[in-house]
Amino acid sequence: MQKIILDTDPGIDDAIAICYALNHPQLEVLALTTIYGNVATELATQNALRLCELNKHTVPVATGASLPLKIKPNPVADFVHGANGFGQIELPAPSLEPTSFSAAEMIVDTINKYPEEVTLVAVGPLTNLAIALELDPEIAQKVKEVVVMGGAFHRNGNVSEHAEANIWNDPHAAQQVFTADWPLVVHGLDVTYQISFSADYLEKIAAKSHNVGGFLREAAKFYSEFYKSQHNFDGCCPHDQLALTYLCHPEWYSLESGSLDVVTEGEAIGKTTIQSNENSNKSIATKVNREALLKEYTEVVSRAA
Ligand code: BDR
Ligand code: CA
Repeated sequence: MQKIILDTDPGIDDAIAICYALNHPQLEVLALTTIYGNVATELATQNALRLCELNKHTVPVATGASLPLKIKPNPVADFVHGANGFGQIELPAPSLEPTSFSAAEMIVDTINKYPEEVTLVAVGPLTNLAIALELDPEIAQKVKEVVVMGGAFHRNGNVSEHAEANIWNDPHAAQQVFTADWPLVVHGLDVTYQISFSADYLEKIAAKSHNVGGFLREAAKFYSEFYKSQHNFDGCCPHDQLALTYLCHPEWYSLESGSLDVVTEGEAIGKTTIQSNENSNKSIATKVNREALLKEYTEVVSRAA
């Protein structure tokens, strides 16, 4: 079993990723930590708890930062994920409660509890990771690996010509996470746009698991409308899932190693770059085995209650 902490802003593709993480036989989710982005942080926490209950899986949920480190906050992405984060599909209010620790404290404590065993996976803006690094810089040496969904290295962004949403929402935090001395793999739009969940595919997921798959199919309708109107294609991109599948099947991905950088001001704010270097402990994903990812996702969701 791989121990992970999943930092997330649920969000429909976050929900896709969380349902996978909670049902994968190789993953042990030690905590979900929440962040603003697709929705405000408080709602992200409620949504993370709702998804735990949907999956009949209790894990600690810790609330994260509500603002970026330095910039004025951008508006939440309700036009992509709906005002409730789940495409206006309502899950019952959770009876579980978040922990009293902050997300950053949870990250620091958990990595210190299991040195060299914990993979930190972040699929939202990187503020909590940057605060955790400030609280205890030694976690960089103790974490097993950091895996991030964010950035657009060899292509345009999705919120501006230059920037991808997670990085744009807190470029200063991203710059700290990208330059800290820890092993890091970043899944940017370069690889995440290689996968889409079509309406037919979402039907398959729903057929595998009425509860969890059925919820994902319904929530993804709103998200797919956004892709239809903005990109004129049928289906939606499960961006965050690319980081999760990587944990269990790194052999399905091609990587490029190098030092990473983030533009923190000006017109290109949020732009991410890589300078190739085979000896770097940082890399970006450039290619994924599409068929294998799609097939495995249905198998994992079919394990859901
Ligand atoms: C990223 O931004 C959010 O909208 C998604 O959940 C994903 O993490 C894609 O740019
Ligand atoms: Ca996300």
